[in-house]
Amino acid sequence: MGYALCTGKERMKDEEGKKLHSTQKPIELLKRIILTTSKEGDVVLDPMAGLGTTGYVANALNRKFIMIEKEEKYIKGIQRRFSEKLHINFEKEKIRKDIS
Ligand SMILES: C[S@@+](CC[C@H](N)C(=O)[O-])C[C@H]1O[C@@H](n2cnc3c(N)ncnc32)[C@H](O)[C@@H]1O
Repeated sequence: MGYALCTGKERMKDEEGKKLHSTQKPIELLKRIILTTSKEGDVVLDPMAGLGTTGYVANALNRKFIMIEKEEKYIKGIQRRFSEKLHINFEKEKIRKDIS
């Protein structure tokens, strides 16, 4: 199974058509992991979210999710992914900045 990295249409690109993230994971991989380790309504935590594949799939499988990502460009990628594909726009207060 070619599960290590995301390929094809699923792969997010930047404005220049280059890969937005070097290790974006495939939806099918997260689907397997989430289905086998959680139930509907559970909260799934991804503390290194990248482009948010975990939250994207968790949402589709009726799980709640918390994602943490330190790079602004990937956070923007998550927002784009959710708004374009799922029509979910995060409220500003739900995107918390580093409080240290
Ligand atoms: C392997 S990638 C995750 C890829 C993700 N599963 C996807 O499908 O796009 C790991 C991510 O963790 C982030 N990261 C690394 N250290 C972190 C930290 N201390 N806090 C938050 N995010 C962190 C990196 O910026 C990177 O985007």
